[in-house]
Amino acid sequence: MSASRPQSRPTPRPGVLSIQAYVPGKSSAPGVAKIFKLSSNETPLGPSPHALEAYRRVGEHLEDYPDGSASELREAIGRAFGLDPARIVCGAGSDDLLNLLARAYLADGDEAIHTTHGFLVYPIATLGTGATPVVAAEKDFTADVDTILAAVTPKTKLVFLANPNNPTGTYVPFDEVKRLHRSLPPHVLLVIDAAYSEYVRRNDYESGIELVATSENVVMCRTFSKIHGLAALRLGWMYGPAHVVDAINRIRGPFNVNGAAIAAGIAAIEDTAHQERSREHNTKWLAWLTDEIGKLGLPVTPSVANFVLIHFPTTKGRTAADADKFLTARGLILRQVGAYKLPNALRMSVGTEEANRLVVQALAEFLGSKR
Ligand SMILES: Cc1ncc(COP(=O)(O)O)c(C=O)c1O
Repeated sequence: MSASRPQSRPTPRPGVLSIQAYVPGKSSAPGVAKIFKLSSNETPLGPSPHALEAYRRVGEHLEDYPDGSASELREAIGRAFGLDPARIVCGAGSDDLLNLLARAYLADGDEAIHTTHGFLVYPIATLGTGATPVVAAEKDFTADVDTILAAVTPKTKLVFLANPNNPTGTYVPFDEVKRLHRSLPPHVLLVIDAAYSEYVRRNDYESGIELVATSENVVMCRTFSKIHGLAALRLGWMYGPAHVVDAINRIRGPFNVNGAAIAAGIAAIEDTAHQERSREHNTKWLAWLTDEIGKLGLPVTPSVANFVLIHFPTTKGRTAADADKFLTARGLILRQVGAYKLPNALRMSVGTEEANRLVVQALAEFLGSKR
């Protein structure tokens, strides 16, 4: 468009209209009385009772602004992980932080790399800055360090790595993450999104803390939406080098984390017993679902997170879309993942025992029924 020709209406910056708006997991099934929402990787155990109590207390004082620097929360996170609170920034969900990182480090003409089935917020955040998302192919539904490195060009400014990844549930071992970091140019920011790290039970996994602590170009993002069960409050945090923290603090909203989120977040991070219960529930039912769904003949990608990716045949009547319809009619809401380039799969969050058993039963019925 030429600068001399006046526009008839405001136009967003380049890239914005290329964004496919994020579509959250379904939460209803018309005409079904009892719903089991297994579409957004929420915890079946809910938040810590202490977090609920702290949340309710904030309700007495809604007239007060929250602490804009979330100091007490950053201190509580610092204590929980042995980190310097000055190197933590809190956000309205880790989405907020991922977008802030993109805004701070990307501009028109830059490139940001994510992997084929990477979390959808990465291309959205990238396009919103005018930069170009570059997709690095995965191997076996897993991020691959060599293809990420091969995608690096002089225009690359940022690499998003979800570890574990959503919606695949797979992870990159720490040695490989370190190799990725070692081989990236020092001006490229590596963003490790560890939203599901609390669920991982693997000796060769590390959430990113160690790399952040020892380098100048790595940031780790975490969330309170998953194991802490505070998705509705929108709360996340990042740990990064001082210069990145400084940049994000300059552009974030002055009160980007609300008072209820701060209070509940402190109580949640301190309730390690609740976190342990959630982890144990997940470990048990993740293995059970993987086995039982596998026995039905549906391949399940090995997951270390709080969800499973279930693959369906392309045969008419047996597809992921058919299964979704069948399950939804029974109040079992899974997530279609076509937008993640996985049209033949459904993602299921690990639910309560009741929900997990109902899904396996329903899938058996679905596969056994004449269609
Ligand atoms: C990989 C990944 N990162 C970040 C998020 C966003 O979490 P939050 O609720 O903190 O914005 C999610 C949520 O589904 C996720 O799957």
